[in-house]
Amino acid sequence: MESLEEWTPDIVVGIDFGMTFTGAAYSFTPRWSHLKTIQRWPGTLPSELANKAPTCVEYRPDCMEIKGWGFLCNPEEEASDIKEFFKLHLSPHYQEDYPGAPSRREAQRWFRDYIREIYKHVVATLSNTFPLFPSRRVEFIFSVPTTWKDPRMIEEVRGLIDEAIHSDSPNHRAVIGLTEAEAAAVYACKQLYQKDDVILICDAGGGTTDVNVLKLVSSPGAPIRLQQLNNVEGRPIGSVFIDKSIHHLICQRLERIRHCLGRPPNEIAWKMISGRFQRFKCSFGEDAISTLPSLKLDVPTLGRGSSFPEAEIYNGQMSIAREEIQRCFDDKIDDMCDFIDVQLDRMHLMHPFEHMSYLVLSGGFGSSAYVRQRLCARYSSETAVKKPNAESIQVITADEPYLAVVHGLVMNRAQQLERGVVYLGSRCCRVSYGIICSVPYNAQRHLGEPVKIDSRDKKTYAINQIDWIVKQGEPIPPTGLSRPFGIKVEPGQINDPWKVHVVMSTLPARELPQSMTHDGAKSVCILSVYTEGVEKKLKNRHWYNSDPAYWMVKFNVKVVVGPADLKFELWSENKQIRSSKHEPIAVAWTPYKKETEGEVSSDQKFLL
Ligand SMILES: Nc1ncnc2c1ncn2[C@@H]1O[C@H](COP(=O)(O)OP(=O)(O)OP(=O)(O)O)[C@@H](O)[C@H]1O
Ligand SMILES: [Mg+2]
Repeated sequence: MESLEEWTPDIVVGIDFGMTFTGAAYSFTPRWSHLKTIQRWPGTLPSELANKAPTCVEYRPDCMEIKGWGFLCNPEEEASDIKEFFKLHLSPHYQEDYPGAPSRREAQRWFRDYIREIYKHVVATLSNTFPLFPSRRVEFIFSVPTTWKDPRMIEEVRGLIDEAIHSDSPNHRAVIGLTEAEAAAVYACKQLYQKDDVILICDAGGGTTDVNVLKLVSSPGAPIRLQQLNNVEGRPIGSVFIDKSIHHLICQRLERIRHCLGRPPNEIAWKMISGRFQRFKCSFGEDAISTLPSLKLDVPTLGRGSSFPEAEIYNGQMSIAREEIQRCFDDKIDDMCDFIDVQLDRMHLMHPFEHMSYLVLSGGFGSSAYVRQRLCARYSSETAVKKPNAESIQVITADEPYLAVVHGLVMNRAQQLERGVVYLGSRCCRVSYGIICSVPYNAQRHLGEPVKIDSRDKKTYAINQIDWIVKQGEPIPPTGLSRPFGIKVEPGQINDPWKVHVVMSTLPARELPQSMTHDGAKSVCILSVYTEGVEKKLKNRHWYNSDPAYWMVKFNVKVVVGPADLKFELWSENKQIRSSKHEPIAVAWTPYKKETEGEVSSDQKFLL
C-alpha cells in the first residue's frame, strides 16, 4: 500500500462534526478551488436545502440498529429517544453530572454510528454526481474541536472514524485535519484582507467558542499563507447555553403547576425550546423582532383556554419577557468578551508591535445580530474602552458563518493539492511535549531530584528529568522538531527497541515541570525505536580496553505536531529511516484514567 504522502485524492470531503449541526463540503481535481457544500439531507423536502444536518441519532427500542439520524429524527414524536449533544461526552475530561448522562463509551458509539451515516450519505451524493465514482480516491478530512488537546484522545477518535469509514472502500481514507479554530481562520481569509493584516477569528457555535489570532503573510496573487500568532484556544460558550437557561426557566415555572401537566416539566420544556423559540433566538437583535416585548410559547399539554398566572401562562401560552432572553444572551456574550480580552492581553505581551485589524465572527452563535451589536459596542464603537493593540479593530461577520469550519478545512487541503502550500505553515502548539531522560547531575539544578550512577562510565545522572521538546505557544515548523539521541547499548541488546517515554502538559510554558517528581506532566505514549539502519559504532572493542564493549547508537527522533495529533519519525545521518518490515517507531499510547493534573479542562466546566 502507498504511504499517505504518496496517496493523492481525486476528491476531498471536509466534515465538521458540530455539537448541534454537522456540515460536509467537497472539492475535486483538477479545479480544487471550486468548492461545493452538501445541502440535501435525508428527511428534508426535495426543494429544501440545508447547510448542515442536525447532529443526532435515534436507535430502535432495545436494538442496536439506527432508526434515524439528522433531519430524520423527530423530536415531536411521542417516546422518541434522540441522542444529541454527545460531542462533549467524547472528551474524557467532561464530567457528566446530570441524570441519564451517557458514558464516554456510549457517546463514542453514537459518534461512530452518526459519522457512518454521514459518510454513507456523502458517498451516495457523490456517486450520483461523479462518473466512475468507485474508482475515485476520496479523502475525508475531519476537523477537531480546539478543546481536544490530548493526542491520545485524537487517536481514539481517529480509530472510531476508521471504523465508520474504511471498511467500505480501499479508495477512501479518513484523516484528521485542522482544529475548528484553524479551519475558521482559513475560511475568514477568503474575505480579501491585505498583507500584514492581523485577524482575530472568533468561531462561536452551539457549544464552544474558539479564538485564533493570525497574520496574513502572503502577497496578493500568491498562495495564501497565514502566520499563527498565538496558540488556538476554546471555551464552553455557545448558543446551546441560551437554550439551557431558558429550559431551566421554563422548568421552574412548570414545576409550580406540575399536577396539571400530564407529563414531566423537563420533557415539556424540551419541546417548548424547539421551533418558535429557536426562530426567536436566531433573530434576536434583528429589527424585525425588536419591538416584541415578549415571546409566547405554546405549552404542549395545555389547551388554549388554560391560564396559570403563577407560571406566567395565559391562554395555553407561556410568556417569556424579552429581557429574560436578553439576560441569557448577555451572560454568554460577557464570557465571550472576557475570553477575547484575555487573548488580546496575551497578544499584547507576546507581540507588542502587532495591532489587530479585524475581529471576524463565524459559527451559528457568531452569526447572531445581537452578538455582533454587543461586540461592536465593546470593541469598535467610539465610546468603547479600547485595548492598546485593538484601537482600530473592525468587527465583521464571515461570509457564510455556519460553513466557515467545513469550508476552511477543504480550502486548506485544496490549496495544498493545487499549489503545494498550506495556509498555516508553522503552528503554535497548544500543549507542550517532552521526553523523560537522564541528564548529568548538576548539584544546583538537581537538588532533591532522584539520581543514578551509570555503571559504564561511573558518572551520576539525575533521572526522570523532562526534556521539553515542544513548548506551548512556540511556533513549530510543519516538518517537526528534531531531538538527537546518543545511546549506549550492550552488544547483546542491539536488536531490542529503545524505549522513549513521551509526556505532555497543558500548563503554560513558563510553568513546565523540570522532572516527573513534580506535578503537571502526564504520560502520552511510549515509543519503541528500532535502531536497525541507524548509525552505530562499537566502543571499547580493542584488547587494551578494560571496560566492557558497547554500541554507541546515534539517531534523531522528529516530533511532527499536527493540528491536534502527534507523529514521530526516525532520522539518522540526515535521512529518514523507513522499514518495509515494521514501523521504525512503534507508538503505544498510554490509556486514559481519570486524571487530575491540577488543571481544569474547559470541557469540565461545561454543564448541559
Ligand atoms: N442567529 C443566531 N443567534 C443565536 N444562535 C444561533 C443563530 N444561528 C444559529 N444559532 C445557534 O448556533 C448553533 C449552530 O451553530 P454551529 O453550526 O456553528 O454550531 P456547532 O458546529 O453545532 O457547534 P460547535 O462548533 O460548538 O460544536 C445552534 O445552537 C443554533 O441554535
Ligand atoms: Mg462548529
